[in-house]
Amino acid sequence: MSELKKDSVERTLCIPLWSRAIAVKKLPQILPDRDATRILAEMGEKKPPSMLYNLQCAALAGAVRQHDFACEIREYLKDHPRAAIVELGAGLSCLRRQIGNEANPWLNVDFPDVIACREKYIPTGRLEKNAACDITDHAWFDEVAFEKENGVVILAAGVMHYLTYEAVTELIRDMAERFPGGLFVFDFVSEKGVSGGNTQIKLTKNATTMSFSMENAEKEIPPMSDKIARVVQKSYLEGYPTTGVRYSPITKMYVKSKRDKYLVARVEFAREA
Ligand SMILES: C[S@@+](CC[C@H](N)C(=O)[O-])C[C@H]1O[C@@H](n2cnc3c(N)ncnc32)[C@H](O)[C@@H]1O
Repeated sequence: MSELKKDSVERTLCIPLWSRAIAVKKLPQILPDRDATRILAEMGEKKPPSMLYNLQCAALAGAVRQHDFACEIREYLKDHPRAAIVELGAGLSCLRRQIGNEANPWLNVDFPDVIACREKYIPTGRLEKNAACDITDHAWFDEVAFEKENGVVILAAGVMHYLTYEAVTELIRDMAERFPGGLFVFDFVSEKGVSGGNTQIKLTKNATTMSFSMENAEKEIPPMSDKIARVVQKSYLEGYPTTGVRYSPITKMYVKSKRDKYLVARVEFAREA
């Protein structure tokens, strides 16, 4: 990870990257990310930040989020086959390659040093683009290949945690205005989940901390904009069923313990009248 500054939010990308790399062996049934293993090897990273990453439940946390978001993309594309897809705080996610998408315009947004890493380690697809931008500066809106009739799915996996509540509110309000008919999906933690998240970051020897939490997306998000049609809160670990996966007793306990802490919000923006 030497390409990324120490104690930076950028470095948090190593958490899901290691988790997905280990999941390729531990949970191959859940959308395996073979690029994660390759990228870490090419970076010369030999060991995960902690031995705890070798537990099945740690692998699950990284792998299942890509699965959750892949389900949301597939569902939206049923009605909007030409939609644009955006990954905010994309890190070194290879979700596009995991689901084999070549047909939709795809935009990855992250800070410049992360985008430089993406360009070094991840081949860019035919309709794929990277934008080096702070997502709280809404200049990235102009980079989205958005056509009202085609729609857009905007994803933020493991990203909102690092923004303030005000920045999340402004982002949702402005996206709802700019992308009518679009879908925004992000994961978040409840207040009870923040300290566990910060412990995970500490294990990677990174002084960054999470700040954003939310208790009830269905109550808290609609007042952010009158251009929000519907908000659905789902469970991160259990909301998108997987098939053929057997959890160890520890993983079962982990899933239960995170039930009210790890959540996903899907926010549907209203169509224009
Ligand atoms: C935990 S990583 C998740 C990476 C990726 N989504 C994944 O699931 O592998 C968080 C990512 O969000 C990015 N990020 C956080 N705040 C950001 C901001 N304000 N603007 C752009 N990127 C941001 C970080 O640089 C990092 O790549």
